[in-house]
Amino acid sequence: MTTPVFEESEGFAKRLDERDPLGKFRGRFEIPAGADGAPLIYFNGNSLGLMPASTRGAVVQELDDWSRLAVDAHFRAATPWYSYHEVFRESGARLVGAHPGEVVMMNGLTVNLHLMMATFYRPDGERRKILIEDGAFPSDAYAVESKVRLAGLDPADAIVAVAPRDGETLLRTEDVVQAIEREGAALALVLLPGVQFYTGQLLDIPAITAAAHAAGAVAGWDLAHAAGNVPLSLHDWDVDFAVWCSYKYLNAGPGAVAGCFVHARHGANTTLPRLAGWWGNDPGIRFKMDEARTFVPRPGADGWQVSNPPILAMAPLKESLAIFDEAGMDSLRHKSVVLTGYLEWLLGRSQDPRFEILTPADPAARGCQLSLRALREPRETLKTIEGGGVVVDHRPPDVLRIAPVPLYNTFHEVWRAARLIQPLTP
Ligand SMILES: Cc1ncc(COP(=O)(O)O)c(C=O)c1O
Repeated sequence: MTTPVFEESEGFAKRLDERDPLGKFRGRFEIPAGADGAPLIYFNGNSLGLMPASTRGAVVQELDDWSRLAVDAHFRAATPWYSYHEVFRESGARLVGAHPGEVVMMNGLTVNLHLMMATFYRPDGERRKILIEDGAFPSDAYAVESKVRLAGLDPADAIVAVAPRDGETLLRTEDVVQAIEREGAALALVLLPGVQFYTGQLLDIPAITAAAHAAGAVAGWDLAHAAGNVPLSLHDWDVDFAVWCSYKYLNAGPGAVAGCFVHARHGANTTLPRLAGWWGNDPGIRFKMDEARTFVPRPGADGWQVSNPPILAMAPLKESLAIFDEAGMDSLRHKSVVLTGYLEWLLGRSQDPRFEILTPADPAARGCQLSLRALREPRETLKTIEGGGVVVDHRPPDVLRIAPVPLYNTFHEVWRAARLIQPLTP
């Protein structure tokens, strides 16, 4: 699909859908219906992605294996439970541009962040600071502050927050890099979001990672809003670690099992201190209780596992990543750029805008989400949008986050939603 010159007609939207090579994937998802029984226009995949229809069967399969085989399912289930997480070795790596072995699916995002900081934030004398963003997602801010306190340090001294310039909403790469350079030898860790949850801004991960390394710091990334949304090359960008959740763009269900990336050069270092548990141990001796007295971490990201995986929650992730593999991240990104660009173009038609778009105008600096600030009557606006059967995310008081997702949203949905918003403009 090449980027077309957009037109305002409904027929144009329908033609885009007819020509969309990814259009077939919509039918693989269960689309919620509104009170009138018609499918909702679901633009909230940045909060909770829709359920692939195959997920139900995948979960039932695990229940059946449990019912039929009980403990034997660890080795005899359709997907043996003992090595279940290895299902994601290749697909998880493809998703974020990693090498097999650099990605493991486990826990929740914030738990993984704690596990990563336990290894990669080791304050040492003057080198003690963590650089985050001023608008960091609360869970990240809590995790960082608690980690600093656990290290016996004062958050007021050890946490540095970068912010957009006065009167601006977006972070400038040069400001982040300058802040890193300013902290220099005091900086232990840079922890930033790949895509900022509020504005939808995609940060320059390779440039910021390189700046962190030049300062002698570790670069960690929260990819909650980036994984499954934008192509990533974590290995080549030399990212040290990254964490993400799987319930947004990855459609793996509420509280889904999260992802974790550890660069191969760290994964190979089995002497790195970590919070250990038996599932990170060499699986060859995991059950040999005498030999397993000493923790021998598995090389790679697998060595950061702590507990045995929740199989009923792993099954939806397996379905999800199979879909991503089939669709391909590059094709999804291509459609996403056109789909979001179309929404932006349609909204930008009005002469008297009621919205300010906070998200960068440059498609290379955003994912699929557009964050709209309602300049007038945000509640009324939201009511009108929701009343028209469009599901968006509201960040009080006045920001609406709208995420057309290339796997299951259509150009016609974008056209209908934009028309619903546009009549609000005189
Ligand atoms: C950017 C970001 N970080 C962290 C979290 C928290 O994730 P979890 O509850 O899976 O730990 C979220 C949740 O939406 C998020 O958007």
